[in-house]
Amino acid sequence: MLDGVLRRGQTLEGASSAASARLAPNDRALALAIAGETLRLLPDLDGLIDSATRQRLPDDSKARMVLRLALAQKIGLGTPDHALVATALPLVDGGPRRLVHGVLGTLLRRGVPAIEAPHLPDAVELRWRAAWGEDAVLAARRQIAHRPPLDLTFALDADAGRFAGAHQSRSLAPRHLRVASSSVAELPGYDSGLWWVQDLAASLPARLIPGGAKSVLDLCAAPGGKTMQLAAAGHDVTALDQSESRLGRLRDNLQRTRLDAELVAADALKWKPKRRFDAILLDAPCSATGTFRRHPEVLYRARPPIIAQSAELQAALLDRAAAWLEPGGILVYSVCSLEPEEGEAAVTAFLGRGDGFKIDRPDPGELPDFAAASDAGWVRIVPGTLEAEGGLDGFFIARLVRSA
Ligand SMILES: C[S@@+](CC[C@H](N)C(=O)[O-])C[C@H]1O[C@@H](n2cnc3c(N)ncnc32)[C@H](O)[C@@H]1O
Repeated sequence: MLDGVLRRGQTLEGASSAASARLAPNDRALALAIAGETLRLLPDLDGLIDSATRQRLPDDSKARMVLRLALAQKIGLGTPDHALVATALPLVDGGPRRLVHGVLGTLLRRGVPAIEAPHLPDAVELRWRAAWGEDAVLAARRQIAHRPPLDLTFALDADAGRFAGAHQSRSLAPRHLRVASSSVAELPGYDSGLWWVQDLAASLPARLIPGGAKSVLDLCAAPGGKTMQLAAAGHDVTALDQSESRLGRLRDNLQRTRLDAELVAADALKWKPKRRFDAILLDAPCSATGTFRRHPEVLYRARPPIIAQSAELQAALLDRAAAWLEPGGILVYSVCSLEPEEGEAAVTAFLGRGDGFKIDRPDPGELPDFAAASDAGWVRIVPGTLEAEGGLDGFFIARLVRSA
């Protein structure tokens, strides 16, 4: 899995389905947990390994990989020493067993420290320090150490109210509850479709589609968190995505929540709509670095060329969506990215291309206070936002209005 993520640029989910297809569910879950902890702690694990070796082990050497796995279990999962030594050494049988045994022994004797605020990869810390400042980097380091909380979005206020009355939870926005449990299966109301799991930050873009908009195009819609919000708000929703399998998940989600949308499987760069829309929500594909708490691998996958490629795709999608709006129509653009190229710069460049759009700043009270608009009129969620309440995914959201 780690090789898939670190060398081949796969997602952890993608790498895990190939790597662990033959494992029993328990073992698969354990393997995923070890891989996740390793990615969360990687720069610090490497620091420990380097402190106990005379010659630096190559990044993709088997010895380093096995030491990372063993230390991630020790620090991240609390595995007892004898168990992690017993599982690490057979992985290097016939190879660098003595080396791994020696380094692991040295580190365990020395005592391995808890890591309260793991380092992010150097390149990411540099980028985010330049974009958002030192405090945001320190907050990101604290946040990657913990499992993020579970946020639910409800279709109806009344159901959110009833749920809150019966379960320990906290509402940070209308139709939102942050719940104490981390297990979806343990919570009532999932099968009956009263709510869906959605990070609170990810629920902000759809909140900016005005109530008066009748026809709404959800462009890049799957798996459908925002489609469900729009349908629940009473809009006539067309939901488009190019991925058939992700659209299948969207279809299941709509069925479960008994909400309605017209589904279109198409490439937005080729598709031509038959009519114009009152509003378009473009939740664009992106580097997803804002989701680093749940998916630490994004920190390794999102290298500058990938970010630049994403930004190109986002510009093309913005330009196409712009042509499909009625005059006076609303375009909400969002990305779960902490890279300014995919947010602030993407929208600034779009406005600069002069298609008759301007920023439509959210009115006071339209979004919760933690999502106050910047001077430029867009919303930027950085690490550290609502930290005491458990934090948020990183996000960028801009609402634009078509003047002509
Ligand atoms: C950020 S995700 C969307 C998440 C979704 N809005 C939600 O709230 O659940 C981006 C989506 O864009 C889709 N996508 C990427 N390129 C596309 C294209 N050229 N045309 C249509 N969909 C595309 C991907 O399949 C992916 O589902």
